[in-house]
Amino acid sequence: MDSAFDDLLREELEALETRAQRRRLRGFGVMDGGLCDGNGRPLVDLSSNDYLGLSRHPLVTTRAAEWARRHGAGPPASRLVTGTRDITLAVEEKLAAFKGREAALLFSSGFQANATVIPALARLGTIVGAGNTANATAIFSDELNHASIIHGARAARCPVHVFRHNDLDHLDALLAGHAGRKLVATESVFSMDGDRADLGRLAQVAARHGALLYVDEAHATGILGPQGRGLAAAVPGIDVVMGTLGKAFGAFGAYVAGSRALIDWLTNRCSGFIFTTALPPPVLGAVDAALELVPGMDAERARVAANAQRLRAALAAQGISTLASTTQIVPAVIGAEADTLAASAALEAEGFVAVAIRPPTVAAGSSRLRLAINSTLTAPELDRLLAVLAASLPRR
Ligand SMILES: Cc1ncc(COP(=O)(O)O)c(C=O)c1O
Repeated sequence: MDSAFDDLLREELEALETRAQRRRLRGFGVMDGGLCDGNGRPLVDLSSNDYLGLSRHPLVTTRAAEWARRHGAGPPASRLVTGTRDITLAVEEKLAAFKGREAALLFSSGFQANATVIPALARLGTIVGAGNTANATAIFSDELNHASIIHGARAARCPVHVFRHNDLDHLDALLAGHAGRKLVATESVFSMDGDRADLGRLAQVAARHGALLYVDEAHATGILGPQGRGLAAAVPGIDVVMGTLGKAFGAFGAYVAGSRALIDWLTNRCSGFIFTTALPPPVLGAVDAALELVPGMDAERARVAANAQRLRAALAAQGISTLASTTQIVPAVIGAEADTLAASAALEAEGFVAVAIRPPTVAAGSSRLRLAINSTLTAPELDRLLAVLAASLPRR
């Protein structure tokens, strides 16, 4: 029987439908390693973050299966109980070396890391300085930061200052107005725009104001920076680097990397690390294999970069904005929600999946197809994609 609560839920869903903002789950099939629709028709996936195609790499899938057989399907405990195995520590050590940091800590997901590490860091100093409100942290967050960073900043229950996207003069001015502890949070590659933060300058601005710098490398890890080590790898002065393992690594989970002291402290103070079950052995196996493969994949990274550039040029020739994208993430900005849904449907009719990205994920009026180039996209597929985009997107 429906309750008043259900009526209200349905009313809200109808309001979203009217605004072309309602989302629905859809189950894709998988055939010959690629996506297919309900009728078994193959689809080229332009919405996946598996930028290097590693989720299907034989070394990755074999090691995942092997570690499941050897160590079990799941660790039935959290990390500080019996969920830490020798393989967990070995993968963390490899991750730290990959990121060029003293230590690394695995998390169940990127969302969980951002949502809980940021509030933990905002409480830094409350053990030794209990009650000292002069030490209260303020958080400075880029306006395009991912929902999980926003969640973390809100959960920290401290003042949050949002700076204009990639506007470091604005950040500088905001930092100058705060006397206590400061934490600056940014993504190195912005997930919906595909542009980059100027990490070198950001590190200088943060250092000038004594602010802790927190960088989310979800969309850079594996695909950008020297040997795919991320954009933070080449920049000194970044205190905390997090990244995800469910994107270019083709696996699952996330990591935080930094100094030994940072990792030891998070092990003691971060709720999203302490009060949850450890990552399972098959995932650790997949991450372990990806860590071996990623540094040697420069050819794949170069192909992705060249294909993304070709896609941007083709969209620009049609008068379609790709914003400030310089990475494998190429937004084709359509504008209205309904038009973006129509563009997505037109692409799918031709065998390409490019899910429409709409508010609240992006700002009103900037709905887009977020086209993610990965290394498994073939030259004929890209040629066909450009032809389909030319035919199905309105010229501007
Ligand atoms: C920038 C950014 N940070 C964090 C996350 C969350 O990572 P995860 O999917 O591992 O929860 C995402 C994923 O969508 C992201 O784009």
